[in-house]
Amino acid sequence: MATALVTGGAGLIGSHIVDLLVSEGWQVRVLDNFEPQTHRNGPPAWLNPSAAYQTGDVRDRAALRAALDGVDVVFHEAAYGGYMPEIAKYIEVNSYGTALLLETIRDDALPVRKVIVASSQAVYDEGAYRGEDGALFFPETRPLAQLQAGIWEVRDACGHPATPVPTPERTPIGGQTVYAISKADQERLVMAWGRQTGIPTVALRYSCTYGPRQSIFNPYTGVIAIFCTRLLNDRAPVVYEDGHQTRDFCFVEDIARANLLVATDDRADGGVFNVGSGVGTAIGDLARLLAETLGVAVAPEFPGAFRPGEIRHLTSDFSRIAALGWQPQVPLAVGIARYLAWIRTQGDVAEYFTAAAARLREQRIVHLAGKG
Ligand SMILES: NC(=O)c1ccc[n+]([C@@H]2O[C@H](COP(=O)([O-])OP(=O)(O)OC[C@H]3O[C@@H](n4cnc5c(N)ncnc54)[C@H](O)[C@@H]3O)[C@@H](O)[C@H]2O)c1
Repeated sequence: MATALVTGGAGLIGSHIVDLLVSEGWQVRVLDNFEPQTHRNGPPAWLNPSAAYQTGDVRDRAALRAALDGVDVVFHEAAYGGYMPEIAKYIEVNSYGTALLLETIRDDALPVRKVIVASSQAVYDEGAYRGEDGALFFPETRPLAQLQAGIWEVRDACGHPATPVPTPERTPIGGQTVYAISKADQERLVMAWGRQTGIPTVALRYSCTYGPRQSIFNPYTGVIAIFCTRLLNDRAPVVYEDGHQTRDFCFVEDIARANLLVATDDRADGGVFNVGSGVGTAIGDLARLLAETLGVAVAPEFPGAFRPGEIRHLTSDFSRIAALGWQPQVPLAVGIARYLAWIRTQGDVAEYFTAAAARLREQRIVHLAGKG
């Protein structure tokens, strides 16, 4: 029986990986510090009784060493996520925590057979596009001045609006927000370490992942959860830009299955894979769909706010992982229905977005077009 370590195994994605591995007969250990931004009330109700939980931090070498004992496969999900105003903490938890994990395995010659890292579509500077000439191109992030002028769409070299197309893995990465930079760090560290040590590694670039257990406390990440907590308090979802920007939403159980696949299929070793639905959804439409499904008659607001460094359109080209046999199975409407059924079991849901929005404006993570 294989033994897994799932870092961040109390969170949205990690907890679904834990459940899947347990159901497949794995022995599962979790290292999680129950980050208060995500778990405001401490350890959540969904911890799996068949897994062993160690409360600890990926920035702590001794905690990592203990958690790694006897582990065959590491699923590295722990991260500080979203658009929080901190800078140093992202680098500490995501970049440094990953470096420490890898160093501990190598220095203590631990018999780990594979490391799978949770990367993100956020590592792309922008999605892929086709210009008027029909050629595929990879634009840079939109300049601040363009966004301040409220010109949202990506332009091709001749200044014409470009057509978004599914984004393949060869699209340039780098990261244009602090979170994205730290995710690119995590991915590069794990893949370079794998090449150096010969230990198989895989990076999965998840698209926007949602589903039951997505934190209802964190106003900085998870647009479906943020919009739902607003609507359940009769407040309008606040949509950035003009609402026509698109994202790829993937149900969390599909993401968990992709992890199991690459853990058990050697053809994945050394590979970087997009994992997404392949469907682009406009954020304005998402806000309306959630209001309608929740039965809340509140229209979204479009104040002309934007976040510099944000991607305009991104839909995953997941053909690389599809070639290994993975396909998304849960369409958005079904996944949203399952999320809403879950959120209704969570008692009184508060909304933390209003306070967070003021902080994000003050710290210039969110800007208003025409106002800087
Ligand atoms: N949810 C998404 O849309 C999405 C998209 C792309 C990539 N990802 C990545 O997937 C991974 C899991 O994301 P998620 O949505 O499940 O997030 P989540 O916040 O629900 O879960 C993260 C878990 O990590 C734990 N954690 C945070 N800091 C830690 C630390 N210092 N030490 C130990 N544990 C710590 C948290 O307590 C939490 O349980 C992350 O690496 C994230 O960057 C998520």
